[in-house]
Amino acid sequence: MSSTRSVTITDNATGKSVECPVLEGEYGAPVIDIRTLYRELGMFTFDVGYGSTASCRSAITYLDGEEGILLHRGYPIEQLAEHSSFVEVCYLLVHGELPDAAQLADWEHALKMHGMTHEHLSRFYSGYRYDAHPMSVLTGVVGAVASYYHANTDIASEEDRMLTARRVIGKMPGLVAKIYRYASGLPFVYPDNGRSYVENFMYMMYSWPTEPYVANPVAVRALELLMILHADHEQNASTSTVRLAGSAESSPFACVAAGIATLWGKSHGGANEAVVQMLEEIGDVKNIRQFVDRAKDKDDPFRLMGFGHRVYKNYDPRAKIIRKACHDLLEEMHLNQPLFEIAMELERIALEDEYFIERKLYPNVDFYSGLIYQALNIPTAMFTCMFALARSAGWIAQWTELMRDPEFRIGRPRQLYVGAAQRDYVPLAER
Ligand code: SDX
Repeated sequence: MSSTRSVTITDNATGKSVECPVLEGEYGAPVIDIRTLYRELGMFTFDVGYGSTASCRSAITYLDGEEGILLHRGYPIEQLAEHSSFVEVCYLLVHGELPDAAQLADWEHALKMHGMTHEHLSRFYSGYRYDAHPMSVLTGVVGAVASYYHANTDIASEEDRMLTARRVIGKMPGLVAKIYRYASGLPFVYPDNGRSYVENFMYMMYSWPTEPYVANPVAVRALELLMILHADHEQNASTSTVRLAGSAESSPFACVAAGIATLWGKSHGGANEAVVQMLEEIGDVKNIRQFVDRAKDKDDPFRLMGFGHRVYKNYDPRAKIIRKACHDLLEEMHLNQPLFEIAMELERIALEDEYFIERKLYPNVDFYSGLIYQALNIPTAMFTCMFALARSAGWIAQWTELMRDPEFRIGRPRQLYVGAAQRDYVPLAER
């Protein structure tokens, strides 16, 4: 939505001014369109970490960090978590509307038809050490998938972009499951298209060649919920990476691989693994206070993993849902999860501490998710792969939106140069 509203920026050193239009969306902060700034004033904006920068127009996800609101195509995450399925949320993210029964059936069938990968790709895994970090494998193997489709995918074609979305979402479960199978010395398992998307993933992860596999419905529903909650999240670091790679017109699988590489960081998707490692290091509720004190100590690089968020200055709505799901799952599966007790006590202590209150640091999506993955017997090192599995739907939805954007152009930020002034080369003998 455009408006006649504008902001005038004046350089008080020269008296030169530029009037920048203010663009307003459906919700959220309006944006100052500064695209004429450099031409008119000869200046760049400076925004390390892009905390005050909108990189694009998007209709996919809306976050309100102050109110703790998360909408996908206008639907509240709480309602999608309660009523929807991961496959249906993927359709919503990619197509913009909830599917009717026929559309959902066609979509589900299409994802199943794209569940396999070229048999030669299976050999790719054996190039890794058996104990390679799963995210290093996923980054590589998803990039390798590009080699099978790059030559015959026209990213300028909406039809090919939609086909790519089905391929990415359809293939990720098998690509992720193979990582676990390879690390465990187990044979790879082909998809069983008689099973639902999430159950099929668990079948490819855990089935035993010599025994029939019966998935625990409680576990399937818990994993489905986690995947819905991780599917997309506006212009986070990994999504921004996918968009930047996409703006160079790279292969979409290579763009997703770049997103995986970014998600791996412990400040981003790697936090779910780091949370469980932190809770294990705390070991007992009596040790919590010393860790909270370390997190507050500026001389200590330790941060409370799973706490804080660039956008949410309120409780992450996903964390609320996951916390309850974790509690219910542990009860339903009669699991005694001592780490859950430590996590709840850590949350209570931190939320009463002035340092966290003042900085509006609340638990984020990663604080409890690892405890559910643990209850589902997913190895800690695989937690971020689980995040990537779900987020690949958001990444490819955002990529298709980028590629059809009428204002599409390559992303190319500038800088504030603080290096050496120009100088002449000094021959070695004179240095
Ligand atoms: C995800 O962007 C997304 O949407 C991401 C995500 C998604 O779905 O895609 O939601 C997923 O990545 C969630 C975040 C997971 N990461 C963690 O849990 C790692 C721990 N959290 C922090 O590293 C941190 O909170 C970030 C990286 C998440 C946010 O960093 P910011 O926005 O750059 O915040 P900041 O560093 O400017 O912090 C502001 C203040 C600082 O103190 P002061 O300098 O003001 O005194 O808060 C402090 C920070 O030191 N702070 C923390 C803290 N997080 C921030 N202090 C202790 N422990 C923490 N976890």
